[in-house]
Amino acid sequence: RKKTAILISGRGSNMGALISAAMDPAFPAEISLVISNRPDAKGLERAKEFGIATAVVDHTEYGGDRQAFERSVDEVLKAAKIDLVALAGFMRILSPYLVNAWAGRMINIHPALLPSFKGLATHERALEEGVKLHGATVHFVSAEMDDGPIITQGAVPVLDQDTPDSLAARVLDVEHKIYPKALQLVASGKAKIKGGTKVATGDADETVAPL
Ligand code: GAR
Repeated sequence: RKKTAILISGRGSNMGALISAAMDPAFPAEISLVISNRPDAKGLERAKEFGIATAVVDHTEYGGDRQAFERSVDEVLKAAKIDLVALAGFMRILSPYLVNAWAGRMINIHPALLPSFKGLATHERALEEGVKLHGATVHFVSAEMDDGPIITQGAVPVLDQDTPDSLAARVLDVEHKIYPKALQLVASGKAKIKGGTKVATGDADETVAPL
C-alpha cells in the first residue's frame, strides 16, 4: 500500500473521507501522516482520534520564506517515507520547489469543475455566473494554481434557491465520494498522466457524475 500524507489547514472533512476509505485493507493507499500548516486546525484532532500520526509545520514561523516552509514540509514527508501527498483543504499556494519535487505524486481537491472557477469563493462565483452544473475536481498538482491533469470530477445541479452554503454542502458531499476514488486510482497506478496534460484512467466509468 502506498504511504500517503494528507495536508490540511482546517476542518478536515475530506481528510476524514480518505482515512475512512483507507481503513479497508484492500484500499491501495494507507494514510500514514496528516500535516497541518495551522496548529489550531480542527482536522488534527480528528486525525488523532483515528490514531493517525500528525505534524504541524506552522507557516507563520518562517517569516514569509516560502521555500524554507516548504523545505520543512518536504523533510517531514521524507522522514515518514511518504509515497503520495493529498492536499485536502490545504490553503497555502505551493511554489514550484515543492510541486516539482512531488510531480505526479501530489494530488489536490478543488471545489469547482475545473478549469472553471479556479481560486477562492468558487460557490459564490458559480451562483453569480448562473451555471446550472457545479462540482468538484481532483487533479495532480502542477506549478499553476488549481491547474494540472484532472483525475476525476463530480457534478451536482445548481438549484434556483441555492445559497453559497447550500451549494457548498452539496459539492462537499460529492468531494467525499470522488476524493477516495481518485486516491484509489492514483495509488493503484490506474490513473496515469498522458502527454503531461491529461490523465487516462483506463475506464470511462471512473469519472463520477452523480446526476
Ligand atoms: C473543501 O471544500 C476543499 O475542496 C476546499 O476547501 C474545503 C476543505 O474542507 N479546498 C480549497 O478551496 C483549496 N483551495 P475540509 O477541510 O472539510 O476537507
